[in-house]
Amino acid sequence: MTVIERVLCILVLIPVPSTIAGGASDKPHIVIILADDIKRKNYLQDFFISKGWNDFGFHGSNQIPTPNIDALGYNGVILDKYYTQQTCSPSRAALLTGNYPIRSGLQGTPLQAGENRYIPQDMAILPERLKELGYRTHMVGKWHLGFAYEKVTPTGRGFDSHFGYWNGYIGYFDYTITSPTLPDNVTRFTGFDLHQNLSPQWQYVGRYATELFSNKSLEIIDKHNVEEPLFLMVTHLAAHTGKDGIELGVPDITKTNRDYKYIALEQRRRYADIVNIMDDTVGQIVDRLAQKKMLENSIILFFSDNGAQSVGLFQNYGSSWPFRGLKFTLFEGGIRGSAVIYSPLLKKRGYINRHLIHISDWLPTLYHAAGGDVGKLGKIDGINQWDVISKNVTTKRTEILLNIDERENQSGILGYEGRYKLVNGTYQNGIYDQYYGEDGRGGENPPYNVQLILNSLTNRAIQTVPDQSPLFPEDVYSTRRLLDVSWCRDKNFTPNFVCTGFCLFDIYSDPCETTNIVSNNENREVFQSLRARLGEFYKEIVPQTNQQIDPKSDPKRFNNTWWTWLDEKPKRPVTGFFTRLRVMICSRLITFYIVRMFGIC
Ligand SMILES: *[C@@H]1O[C@H](CO)[C@@H](O)[C@H](O)[C@H]1NC(C)=O
Ligand SMILES: *[C@@H]1O[C@H](CO)[C@@H](O)[C@H](O)[C@H]1NC(C)=O
Ligand SMILES: *[C@@H]1O[C@H](CO)[C@@H](O)[C@H](O)[C@H]1NC(C)=O
Ligand SMILES: *[C@@H]1O[C@H](CO)[C@@H](O)[C@H](O)[C@H]1NC(C)=O
Ligand SMILES: *[C@@H]1O[C@H](CO)[C@@H](O)[C@H](O)[C@H]1NC(C)=O
Ligand SMILES: *[C@@H]1O[C@H](CO)[C@@H](O)[C@H](O)[C@H]1NC(C)=O
Repeated sequence: MTVIERVLCILVLIPVPSTIAGGASDKPHIVIILADDIKRKNYLQDFFISKGWNDFGFHGSNQIPTPNIDALGYNGVILDKYYTQQTCSPSRAALLTGNYPIRSGLQGTPLQAGENRYIPQDMAILPERLKELGYRTHMVGKWHLGFAYEKVTPTGRGFDSHFGYWNGYIGYFDYTITSPTLPDNVTRFTGFDLHQNLSPQWQYVGRYATELFSNKSLEIIDKHNVEEPLFLMVTHLAAHTGKDGIELGVPDITKTNRDYKYIALEQRRRYADIVNIMDDTVGQIVDRLAQKKMLENSIILFFSDNGAQSVGLFQNYGSSWPFRGLKFTLFEGGIRGSAVIYSPLLKKRGYINRHLIHISDWLPTLYHAAGGDVGKLGKIDGINQWDVISKNVTTKRTEILLNIDERENQSGILGYEGRYKLVNGTYQNGIYDQYYGEDGRGGENPPYNVQLILNSLTNRAIQTVPDQSPLFPEDVYSTRRLLDVSWCRDKNFTPNFVCTGFCLFDIYSDPCETTNIVSNNENREVFQSLRARLGEFYKEIVPQTNQQIDPKSDPKRFNNTWWTWLDEKPKRPVTGFFTRLRVMICSRLITFYIVRMFGIC
């Protein structure tokens, strides 16, 4: 063995340290916690659990205590003009790609179980971007962005690990989902969908999903080497409906009925408990980050992916009161998200941020916070909002394309810094366009319990951060008053109209969208300008690629589990000659040295 060979052998055997310097990571740890709003797919049975605007304490409802999420917001920044997409797959695609869903063809009906669809592979997504910057990337919970091929599952798309499910929802205890009917109008597929990376996890059947996902998230934090930056994305099943699209699973219905006896409907009591348990798990995560001394260098983001689904198929009894519309619609009730961010790295904390922010902005914002150069992201729709949130400087975002669903004929745009909204067409003849949900105020409901917030795990953990100002009850009350939009329904007036053509709303003066001002003469210019802008986006659509359910996806072929059912790779352009040559030479070299090592070393 030559000297060079010996050196090579030794080099190969020495593990490469992932960071040179010791001590804590210099990049912030990033934790995103996503609640699943209720969303429902047209004529399918796919919906997400999510929470309505009104179902967080900080938005004024007393019905469902959410002390941990509230504490995160009051200590951090509450985003008041935060917009998501109208349903699940579009929202998640926007979050992960930093683009409007019309760029990826994911703007329409969310993925059905067994449908061969995914995020285009030439669009780098958030975990891939953060990996470039040295992050460890983990995901727990719902994916819902395709699993026909291994390459399009979370671990094929930049996550080091994924514990959770690939479909839109599953049972809270049995982790199964049944597909809509196949083209024969009869057959439906049922399969188990709980995986660690690619392997099914039957041993957890019977455990409660929200707690299981929380435990797995805590495990990831426990095992994490604090010298490396962590990206953890927790995407809850809660408060989506579970098994068969109707289950509102709770661990102990007797306790649920006792704790929420002031709520009339049992289904709404279940929803309240589902939300409250999810809130507990937020506290556990924040607390664990503090114990690991990671909190002082963390960014924690909590929001829901779309509005509540108070009524209709897959109803979860959530409430977007006082707003108009539900999930699937482009009204405020469908797309204005409840969102909070906490990080000791934010210069300004404990305030309401009223700048326009869209879900696609997180990719550039977090990439920037992680030390990346946003210029390298190329042309994307998302805008880096770090300084906007951290310092309350004016945002560069002046408009949001709310969506264009060219199959449903529903589109909309928000312009003029978020003041005017133009909606063009409606979802399924306006079935979700009216006003729904409980106001959760007064009556039988308990008073808002500020002590619960001050004593929450989240608040106690945050108070251990150096230089963190204490949270006082007065701050809580005044912030809550400032966030209240109940005045927009004080008119005691529930208009009943459907936007079949164009509807224009002044969101500043009429956030409840009670009055269509499209035919007022003084709004002519606004209307024409927004219509022209929307028309420009129309020309840029990547058409939807929605497919029928693929018969080959049948879980019976895979021991009754949902599984990657197509081989190899999604269709890709053939790699160039030199790439293939390089791969060939490298693999030969590696084989050569391995052989030498085993033979000689
Ligand atoms: C399934 O139902 C659709 C809509 O009702 C109908 O157009 C189609 O012909 C049916 N297909 C079969 C195979 O029965
Ligand atoms: C979560 O972890 C706790 C503490 O280890 C344990 O008591 C509980 O049973 C776990 N829950 C689930 C659903 O796995
Ligand atoms: C944030 O900036 C806006 C102006 O863009 C201002 O009206 C508001 O008072 C500021 N809020 C805080 C807490 O500084
Ligand atoms: C959308 O509009 C097209 C063209 O007018 C029509 O063919 C189609 O049926 C409409 N789709 C829905 C869901 O209304
Ligand atoms: C409005 O919607 C209709 C029906 O989908 C579509 O044909 C038209 O192009 C849209 N107009 C604009 C300006 O978006
Ligand atoms: C098939 O699924 C069952 C659980 O339903 C499991 O116990 C069994 O190990 C699986 N078989 C194989 C070969 O993976």
